[in-house]
Amino acid sequence: MNILDIIEKKRDKKELTKEEIEYFIKEYTNNNIADYQMASLIMAIYLNGMTNKETADLTLAMAHSGEILDLSVLKKPIIDKHSTGGVGDKVSLVLLPLIASLGIPVAKMSGRGLGFTGGTIDKLESIPGYQTNIDINKFVQNVDKIGISIISQTLNLAPADKKIYALRDSIACVESIPLIASSIMSKKIASGAKEIVLDVTVGSGAFMENKENAEKLAMQMVDIGEKVGRKTVCLLTNMDEPLGYAVGNTLEVIEAINFLKGEKIKDLEEIVLQMGYHMLLRAGEANSFSESSEKLLENIKNGKAYDKFIELVENQGGDISYIDNPSKFEKAEYIEPVYAKKAGYVTKINAKEVGKLACYLGAGRIKKEDKINPRVGIVLNKKVSDKVKEKEILGYIHSDDKEKLNNAIIELEKIINISDKHVEQKPMLLGVINNGNL
Ligand code: URA
Repeated sequence: MNILDIIEKKRDKKELTKEEIEYFIKEYTNNNIADYQMASLIMAIYLNGMTNKETADLTLAMAHSGEILDLSVLKKPIIDKHSTGGVGDKVSLVLLPLIASLGIPVAKMSGRGLGFTGGTIDKLESIPGYQTNIDINKFVQNVDKIGISIISQTLNLAPADKKIYALRDSIACVESIPLIASSIMSKKIASGAKEIVLDVTVGSGAFMENKENAEKLAMQMVDIGEKVGRKTVCLLTNMDEPLGYAVGNTLEVIEAINFLKGEKIKDLEEIVLQMGYHMLLRAGEANSFSESSEKLLENIKNGKAYDKFIELVENQGGDISYIDNPSKFEKAEYIEPVYAKKAGYVTKINAKEVGKLACYLGAGRIKKEDKINPRVGIVLNKKVSDKVKEKEILGYIHSDDKEKLNNAIIELEKIINISDKHVEQKPMLLGVINNGNL
């Protein structure tokens, strides 16, 4: 078997066998296939797709490219969550400590930014000292000791996904159903979760721009979960405008801290309550949405979720004085407002354009070796459906570069559409897909 034959086969739209898929995953993980060859194969998969069987074989090959974590030593089963990604998506930062504060263990392996979307790991690393790269035993010990650990994919868990994920990010091959399904499910299988709650985002700021494709992706992941005995549920959620107000790593951490301290952020809260409900339901801690919402909101109000976040950060080496006092976080050199040119209502804030603008400012990567700048990004002042007066502030650009700042001001003003007619915010939950057993 050799990689050129495999590339040629996929290029010519033929179905790959399980053995061929296992071969290229193993050899790429072991550095025996060059990045340019893998890039070519990934592009062929992106363009020509994969059958359900190929996607399932790819998922399992990637899951088994490293260790499969056995979390049975923990007293309770792990209910894991993952999002297909979005702009301003800081759900993991708030939902996971919240879940852990209710006594449900959280052992979470998160990703870095991908394409125009942000990643939980880049966000956590903006907290000085926070270690995302820790040893597996320590990871399990953390969960046992304080009920929560959030780490990066630096351990030997699904290493093939780690390499392919970074490669896809640098060759514009992110928005693909088989590649996303196998990437997410391989990580979830390797990290030992028994039950999986997935947030499949839909809209301009998601990799699936329409509901039909989001459903296809969700069904594939539910199917794969079923094949390997991991119960999986997918929530389809709206990602048309950025989630919350902040986009950019430190900026999102600060927004997450404020949320955990009780600040109301409507769309973020809606996703947290919906995802939280499915996690609590599976953990046997709630029977209805209202019961789970009451528990979740109570633990924000009484400070237990915030305290758990502090415990998480401290336990992973982070400096908690930044959490207690977010004004300590380093700020970008320039923080400038963007003003409305006319009065009216905000009708659209294209999340993908905001995400790309944040990347342009340095919040994301263009090449896989790029370092992100944690300080930069965008903080919106308005959301869709809000009323705006002429010359009112629509948002702020945080930049370390004067030229980029000026370009971003012009760009954000164009991205935020204002019209005379009022529009309602779209609902956040667009559907739920599972295999009927949950
Ligand atoms: N999240 C992942 O882990 N992988 C993807 O491909 C997309 C989102």
